[in-house]
Amino acid sequence: MENRRMGQAGGTVYYHKKRKLKKGVIYAIIALIIVIAAIFGGIRYYNLINSYPYKLEKAGYNDKEITTITKKLKENEIDQLLEMKYNKLYDDFINEKYFMFKHLKTYVDYYTEDSDQTITHAVAMVNVGANKDHYTDVKQTDTSKDELILVNKYNQLPKDYAPEDLTDISVQYCYGDNEVSNEVYQKYISMYNAAKEEDLYLIITSAFRDYEFQDQLWNQYAKSQGEEWADSVAARAGHSEHQTGLTLDIVTYNSNMNDFENTDEFKWLQKHAHEYGFIMRYPKDKEDITGYDYESWHYRYVGVETATKIHELGITYDEYYAYYLAD
Ligand code: DAL
Ligand code: ZN
Repeated sequence: MENRRMGQAGGTVYYHKKRKLKKGVIYAIIALIIVIAAIFGGIRYYNLINSYPYKLEKAGYNDKEITTITKKLKENEIDQLLEMKYNKLYDDFINEKYFMFKHLKTYVDYYTEDSDQTITHAVAMVNVGANKDHYTDVKQTDTSKDELILVNKYNQLPKDYAPEDLTDISVQYCYGDNEVSNEVYQKYISMYNAAKEEDLYLIITSAFRDYEFQDQLWNQYAKSQGEEWADSVAARAGHSEHQTGLTLDIVTYNSNMNDFENTDEFKWLQKHAHEYGFIMRYPKDKEDITGYDYESWHYRYVGVETATKIHELGITYDEYYAYYLAD
């Protein structure tokens, strides 16, 4: 009897211990779940406050701007942007086709000086350096770029620069004595022959011009019509593409430079010059960017591939170089 009771009591103790153990396990599991959830929650929160959308929102950018920024900028650029004060113009600039992050502040300053201009215009001007006065901040141009050398009012050639393969141009193709880089000469002959097939006749009026020649030319213009005019039609010495040996002034018989744009030869060049590696270097309505009046006759050789790209994009060589070729 005694033993039976004890036996019953032993069973109850065992039963209670088992229930306690079960409860303990459940509590432990719940505690573990809470800890894991807290860890995950903490990680998620940490990730959130370190994410660019969160940081950008805190810096004042709206959803649309955040989408633009995270889609178009590299991480190191977003980091730099976050160091800068919010500006509502940034979004417009970042959305521009030829936007370059390194110029962001300059775009805004330049645009703000004259907000009658378009955002696109401000980007082009700053990219090519034309937000600064002509002939200021002049650099020696990178002549290792060969047929892609950039020469303009901010990039100059060494005084004694001349291409290595200067070749005489046959009188058949030009007025007077002229020389040009041999590669350009061969391409010109192909272009000349293709135009001739269509009864169109091209003739070169000027090709390679050395530093001294260009100096005399500019001074002559400046003396006769003033420096401002000279600067709009001629490069100062060291700044002319003619010194590269990659440039040809082309017209046709019975036309001069000023009426060349009204000829069929001009129309043909507009369509086909790029197929031979040439671009019209100083287009109409791009005077601000190139720094020169429109020149329907001035063709620069840049190679077929680059000329074709420029033809398709419809931009000046200054813009193309700044965006695609500059280091
Ligand atoms: N006429 C062009 C700009 C030159 O002088 O090179
Ligand atoms: Zn020219």
